[in-house]
Amino acid sequence: MLFPVWGLKFEFKREFMEKMIINIENLGDFTKNIANKIKEVKLPVFIGLKGEMGAGKTTFTRELIKNITNETDVVVTSPTFTLINVYETIPQIVHVDLFRLETYDDIIFSGIDYYMFESQSIIIAEWYDKINYLMPKNNIKININIVSEFEREFEVFYDLQ
Ligand SMILES: Nc1ncnc2c1ncn2[C@@H]1O[C@H](COP(=O)(O)OP(=O)(O)OP(=O)(O)O)[C@@H](O)[C@H]1O
Ligand SMILES: [Mg+2]
Repeated sequence: MLFPVWGLKFEFKREFMEKMIINIENLGDFTKNIANKIKEVKLPVFIGLKGEMGAGKTTFTRELIKNITNETDVVVTSPTFTLINVYETIPQIVHVDLFRLETYDDIIFSGIDYYMFESQSIIIAEWYDKINYLMPKNNIKININIVSEFEREFEVFYDLQ
């Protein structure tokens, strides 16, 4: 039975899924909606992305960073070679590429777990399925599938508190 206790803050888990076709014109509005949901929850928040080459992982990340920070001059590049890109925005945003990380040791050695669990950051991780077993309590997983040249199917799994 649930009953209110004075001074105790209840946290309700929100788990839901959205699936929609997004084209390059409405990508901005779609991303803004996700950014607004992220702004409502406690940091750290993990955003996982999955999708084949050219699906739009980096394009989405760029748009998301713009919508979260309201800064238009942040230059977002792919973390393919750097593995982790840290943007000293408010809040701090960490963009990582997990593609080449295989083992649990690889993950720990990379230091990504610090950002996922100890920081006040938003972590955007490409190829999140590599660390499906290691999700922080606020996370959003996004699968992007190519439908046509300008259309993508976005499947968004929210797991927020
Ligand atoms: N609805 C859409 N959402 C995102 N990108 C789209 C969409 N429609 C077309 N595009 C185009 O698809 C391309 C996506 O490239 P992007 O570099 O973001 O993909 P990626 O998933 O990061 O690929 P890679 O794995 O090679 O890094 C861009 O040229 C972008 O303009
Ligand atoms: Mg990319």
